[in-house]
Amino acid sequence: MLILSALRAAADGPSPVTSIFDPLSLPAAEIYTLSLLVLGICAAIFVIVGGLIVYAIIAFRRRPEDDDSEPAQIYGSNPIELAWTIVPVLIVSVLFLVTTRTLLAIQKAPPPPGTLQVTVIGHQWWWEFRYPDLGVITANELHVPVSRAGDRRPTYLRLESVDVAHSFWVPQLNGKTDVIPNRVNTMWIEPLLSGLYLGNCGEYCGTQHAHMLLRVIAHEPAEFDAWVAAQRAPAAVDPAAAAGRSLFQSVACINCHRVGGTVADGVFGPDLTHLMSRDTIGAGVAANTAANLRAWVADPDQLKAGALMPAMQLSDQEIDQMVAYLTTLR
Ligand code: CUA
Repeated sequence: MLILSALRAAADGPSPVTSIFDPLSLPAAEIYTLSLLVLGICAAIFVIVGGLIVYAIIAFRRRPEDDDSEPAQIYGSNPIELAWTIVPVLIVSVLFLVTTRTLLAIQKAPPPPGTLQVTVIGHQWWWEFRYPDLGVITANELHVPVSRAGDRRPTYLRLESVDVAHSFWVPQLNGKTDVIPNRVNTMWIEPLLSGLYLGNCGEYCGTQHAHMLLRVIAHEPAEFDAWVAAQRAPAAVDPAAAAGRSLFQSVACINCHRVGGTVADGVFGPDLTHLMSRDTIGAGVAANTAANLRAWVADPDQLKAGALMPAMQLSDQEIDQMVAYLTTLR
């Protein structure tokens, strides 16, 4: 826990970068410590080997007084050969042992009781987050509680894919874990500071792999409970958006999208029940504003070429109604 207090004291919040050198979660800190050791050992080897080569090049260079006879011929040296066999074996053994220790600490650590469970489902090209114990479904922006020394609140992730291989990677929270079809991988995160953590899909998964971004928002416990309560509520019904609502329910939107408490119960696209609670659309491709929603509904390809959602060929007036409805889904 020492390193954690040091980390917490050093950092003043998650940085808006995806760096492995600023860990803010228990597993990420373990990986960081190990990587420093490996880097240190490799740097020492580089300096020693490189230094000896440079020394040999300079000390044994050809000199004017050298004649053309061959230098002294040496046929092996048992002490030197033993040294360069045993030293690497020792180095590899140390790396093997500390790596195993870190792997066990990260991968085999049993979830404490009451741990938050989230199922992460990779799609081309967005993330679905399901909270089976809380009855919440959302997309692209994962909300979790922050963990404190006396009040640990780790989140365990069950990783699944509905199509191709993806990889869940939020560098400040944990290493990269592949998200593979027909297989369940697991990982856990334990953010130590509240705030926003950025990540992205770490495995090439098609045209829009680069726009399969991840946002993890770590909340203080009370704030997290409030978020859960808001997400559990059915979709808001605003009479002013009735035209857009009936339009939404009369076209193909409902085949792919779910809006809780309505006939829309599709599962191919992101759940839209609380669409406006998210900061971005299209898995981070644009800010979630009315103008961007309008562009997206008119033709998703404008913002994200290759997105699997088709342009619905709506008239300008219909798009306005649709956006008016979508922006009521708070
Ligand atoms: Cu999903 Cu790359």
